[in-house]
Amino acid sequence: MPGTEIFGEEEKKEVLDVLNTGVLMRYNHEDERKNCWKAKTFEQEFAAYHDVHYCHMCASGTSADAIALAACGVGIGDEVIVTPFSFIAPVETVLEAGAVPVFAEIDETLCLAPEGIKAAITPKTKAVLLVQVFGGIGKMDEIIQVCADHNLILIEDAAPALGGTQHGKRAGTFGKMGCFSFDFYKIITAGEGGAVITNDEVCYNKSHMYSDHGHDHKAKHRGEDQHPILGFNYRISELNAAVGLAQFRKLAYIIERLRANKKILKEGLRTIPQLTFRHVIDEEGDSATSLAFFLPDKGTTKRVKKAFDEQGIPCAYWLENNFHYIGNWDHLKDMQSPAKLPITRLEKIPNFHQVHLPQTESIMERMLMVELKVKWTLKEVIQMRDKMIRILKEMM
Ligand SMILES: Cc1ncc(COP(=O)(O)O)c(C=O)c1O
Repeated sequence: MPGTEIFGEEEKKEVLDVLNTGVLMRYNHEDERKNCWKAKTFEQEFAAYHDVHYCHMCASGTSADAIALAACGVGIGDEVIVTPFSFIAPVETVLEAGAVPVFAEIDETLCLAPEGIKAAITPKTKAVLLVQVFGGIGKMDEIIQVCADHNLILIEDAAPALGGTQHGKRAGTFGKMGCFSFDFYKIITAGEGGAVITNDEVCYNKSHMYSDHGHDHKAKHRGEDQHPILGFNYRISELNAAVGLAQFRKLAYIIERLRANKKILKEGLRTIPQLTFRHVIDEEGDSATSLAFFLPDKGTTKRVKKAFDEQGIPCAYWLENNFHYIGNWDHLKDMQSPAKLPITRLEKIPNFHQVHLPQTESIMERMLMVELKVKWTLKEVIQMRDKMIRILKEMM
């Protein structure tokens, strides 16, 4: 949780600015707010950083995905290709839009594989909701090509890869819209918060209106503006935006620290010949929130995970995690039961018990992921590296 590791005076100052005005609403109230616009300032800085025309801050990463789907016109009757390995939020937003999530294979980038996407396309496919999983970025040249060849909208959920680049292009800028989360576990946090970015003016306008009951945000006073569309409440508050803004200004430092720590661990693990690393297409652009590697087989991976746990090495075996892998999403597979899905716009509930992704399963069985921390000291990283090497040598 890099962002939460480094709260300081900067976050307090931004929040106090807001409290001193008493205006917690991100729109209007110009006379009272003493020129204090945290959400707007965060949007301007975030858009400039990503070199895009538009950014809209919203309530969460989940709402960012929902907003992007709505802004791109994805809904009832459409299929959206999604990943089986990520937090489930993007899948939930597809269901919420009334569209059908279609799971495709991942590759050793841990993101959707271009061939996997191709194999999952049907005449109903409208979009690919590509998650840049745990700080990595997929094979973007090929993915963009598949989307172009099949006339699919590419929406990027870059929540886990903020600050990463591939050949100089930032995560979140490869598709029609990019989505981010600033929840409590992300590289920077606002407590709760999210963002969508785009170069498309129509998508941007739909995004800010849809997030705020359709308000067009053109009038000085709330209620004097028009409602060109219906919407929802996905607004961010000024308090969350204030924390996010302070954190965003620390992003370069966070990434620098993560990269330094990752380099030490990775160099050390290179001495284990049976171990291979996650495919990182452009190492220089790695946001470095995690270090993922593959072991020869499932049995060895489980044994190493147990030994890492015993030695206090923070390591995830996602195959067995309840939240990040379809293998354990029983609530999704049992969605036919009203108890699992309180409300739906889908006429026919898909049967996710039938999803069969052997390539993904084989990757997941052999993969361990170490979550990296900003505040580790050099001594701590070296101790951890040495412990990991010792365990791995003993086990293989
Ligand atoms: C890829 C991805 N998308 C969306 C979300 C949802 O973000 P939030 O918790 O801000 O709603 C998460 C949360 O972990 C995520 O990992």
